[in-house]
Amino acid sequence: MTTSRIPGFYNLTLEERRAKLADAADLSQGDLIPFTSPLTADIAMHMVENVIGTYALPLGIGLNFLVNGRDVLVPMVIEEPSVIAGASFMAKLARAGGGFTATSTEPLMIGQLQVLNLENIEKAAEQVLAHKAELLTYVDETESSLKSRGGGARDIEVRIIEDSPIGAFLVVHLIYDVRDAMGANAVNTACERLAPKIQDITGGRVHLRILSNLTDRRMAKATCKIPVGELAFTAQDGSVTRPFTGEDVRDGIIAAYAFAAADPYRAATHNKGIMNGIDPVVIATGNDWRAIEAGAHAYAARSGKYTSLSIWEKDAEGNLVGTLEMPMAVGIVGGATKVHSAAQAALKLMNVKSANQLAEIIVSVGLAQNMAALRALATEGIQRGHMSLHARQVAIAAGASGALIEKVASQMVQERIVRIDRAEEILRTL
Ligand code: MEV
Repeated sequence: MTTSRIPGFYNLTLEERRAKLADAADLSQGDLIPFTSPLTADIAMHMVENVIGTYALPLGIGLNFLVNGRDVLVPMVIEEPSVIAGASFMAKLARAGGGFTATSTEPLMIGQLQVLNLENIEKAAEQVLAHKAELLTYVDETESSLKSRGGGARDIEVRIIEDSPIGAFLVVHLIYDVRDAMGANAVNTACERLAPKIQDITGGRVHLRILSNLTDRRMAKATCKIPVGELAFTAQDGSVTRPFTGEDVRDGIIAAYAFAAADPYRAATHNKGIMNGIDPVVIATGNDWRAIEAGAHAYAARSGKYTSLSIWEKDAEGNLVGTLEMPMAVGIVGGATKVHSAAQAALKLMNVKSANQLAEIIVSVGLAQNMAALRALATEGIQRGHMSLHARQVAIAAGASGALIEKVASQMVQERIVRIDRAEEILRTL
């Protein structure tokens, strides 16, 4: 059985980490090979145009995650230091409160058809609704493979856009259950097939036929409860120590959330911190992170005012409770998920069996990451945690290699001067 608790993982060598990971996930070392030699240019040639090579990013493991009572080792692809450590640490605190409880809706995507040149928009809308059953059957008959997997056309909706730069027009929404796919291709195909039917029914001209990335029918939600005592810690800054009680940290996180709830300038950064957790898992599993980003920010602005995607509050016992609910259109079949061997290995590592399960893990990581950022910001600031890995990157940029990377980096951290010119100077003296 998988365990996501691997104490001391950080201190192991690469080989030791891989061996421990295989052990903890009940996988063979062979199952992890795609993580070390993931994508060949030959395969990449079949994914996008004009390929000349591939581009690698660090892949680390988010530890300690317990999602709906199940231990999950989370593959995270990201270039930014502190993210994986932050998420893992917060997942450890969340375990003390039972881990993350996550839910998700049916995988319903929205396809949009823009209908122009209508003499009577209201009448056209009524006519579309009057033909709803016929339209749904038509989609399911033409796209029968999705239907046979339990998905298919669920609803037709109409919206009249009254005010636009070209005046009023009609929008038809196809609500489409795409099961375990991300579903962009399925929705777009269905919309293109529906278009002539909509033209026949309305007498108008169907212009755009495309999915919406504001997938607010395909949502995932995670909550966690951190016992207030777990939040207490002592910050160390050189020889100065600064103790924080659990109540200090909890109230600091709630005040930080309040800032994001009320101010779009702060909300953008707050939500970026959430996406620091979300995107790495979306990328590791071969999913479309631009689609997830678009959905997240559009959803955050749904009231007309851009705001926080998460909520932080205290419960009756004084524990810290976090909730994150957002659109989450990810798949485990089709697209890059299928052809990218590392994406396959990532799904295997998490033992994910459905797109819903994947969405629930991802949103839990987003919540953990948000808590990591708020905790740091509300207490010692984020720079201290950031420094050691950032200093190593600066050391490498200054030309250090091998053992010199660590030497140059630790001297800069000690001096609290992490700059490329200082790294170059230290390197010369070494
Ligand atoms: C940095 O990548 C993310 C943070 O700015 C998020 C936040 O401010 O909440 C630390």
